[in-house]
Amino acid sequence: MKILITGGAGFIGSHVIRRFVQNYPNYHIYNLDALTYAGNLENLKDIENFPNYHFVKGNIVDEDFIITLFDENNFDGVIHLAAESHVDRSIEDPLAFVRTNIIGTVNLLNAAKKIWNDDFVGKRFYHVSTDEVYGSLGQEGLFTEETSYNPNSPYSASKASSDHFVRAYGETYKLPFVITNCSNNYGPFHFPEKLIPLFINNIIHNKPLPVYGDGKYTRDWLFVEDHARAIDLVFHKGANHQTYNVGGFNEWQNIDLVKLLCKVMDKKLDRKDGTSENLITYVRNRPGHDLRYAIDATKINKELGWEPSVTFEEGLELTVDWYLSNSDWLNHVTSGDYKEYYKKMYS
Ligand code: NAD
Ligand code: TYD
Repeated sequence: MKILITGGAGFIGSHVIRRFVQNYPNYHIYNLDALTYAGNLENLKDIENFPNYHFVKGNIVDEDFIITLFDENNFDGVIHLAAESHVDRSIEDPLAFVRTNIIGTVNLLNAAKKIWNDDFVGKRFYHVSTDEVYGSLGQEGLFTEETSYNPNSPYSASKASSDHFVRAYGETYKLPFVITNCSNNYGPFHFPEKLIPLFINNIIHNKPLPVYGDGKYTRDWLFVEDHARAIDLVFHKGANHQTYNVGGFNEWQNIDLVKLLCKVMDKKLDRKDGTSENLITYVRNRPGHDLRYAIDATKINKELGWEPSVTFEEGLELTVDWYLSNSDWLNHVTSGDYKEYYKKMYS
């Protein structure tokens, strides 16, 4: 089996690559990544010398390059994670999201369709997506696979569009696909511009914790290794032309999550209880900020037996421990361009 995994140097992709390289020594895993600000080969240091791991640097927006890569390799499966993934960046530069998330996805679909040449037996195009395509919930209800798409940010609009293209290739050309829509992930190797790693890094450096609006926005958090395990399961056992929602039934209002994180950090850093909470600063709200995301993960549980393996408290502690014992990683990714980004977004 030759599997192409896109975006493998990013946060979730690196966990998926590690899992596949280690668990399936008879598969050849190709990691295609453009190494944008979010991609970091340091995330894969422990497996980079495995004989079944191959790194290819390249951009999914480059149509000729993608066609050539598929021509040369005849992949059996594609697991597509490469994306521009940060809502705040999408508000600053929507076109970057159109290019990578929409055009990049269509380039991959075209290449798969061409190289598989209508002989789809044993082939699979797996598109990794987000619950944000469904838009925002009020105080009640959960996103199911039947919830209609209603994206509100340029990021979620670009992901929704890419989901539609994948489904359209399934209908029109019979391309065998599967899509998962997952809730917010957290864990090791998460780039520190997203809520949890940003706040861990700021607490370490005694910097303000910028909570958007009143902090009463709700997200449904899943430990990244549980997402990687769901991807493994759906890739191998999921039904073609299906969507599965992935989430941990684990909703937190941002402000409650931040307060819990502050407590854990105070304990781990041996600081007086309440020290980190004093860093909380309410800042201007994100434009179009979705109030609440929450996933109904009944389908993947009933059909494939998937469920989260850790509680949020356990996962958060594992995450904090990882960041505290990987300060080199954190220092590397927060040098250079990161400082410019931070100044622009938060000053
Ligand atoms: P990330 O930003 O950490 O990583 C994205 C990776 O894609 C990086 O390695 C980057 O270099 C690469 N990439 C970006 N543009 C590229 C291009 N044009 N060509 C090739 N590679 C490119 O993202 P993540 O958080 O790991 O998310 C991975 C996927 O999972 C995305 O599709 C995202 O929409 C989806 N997702 C993320 C979450 C979450 O909470 N992070 C939740 C649900 C779904
Ligand atoms: P984020 O990690 O950017 O994920 P997403 O927007 O994809 O859900 O943000 C998670 C939540 O935290 C979201 O409600 C926005 C909020 N947030 C802050 O309050 N302050 C911040 O500095 C960031 C980055 C996010």
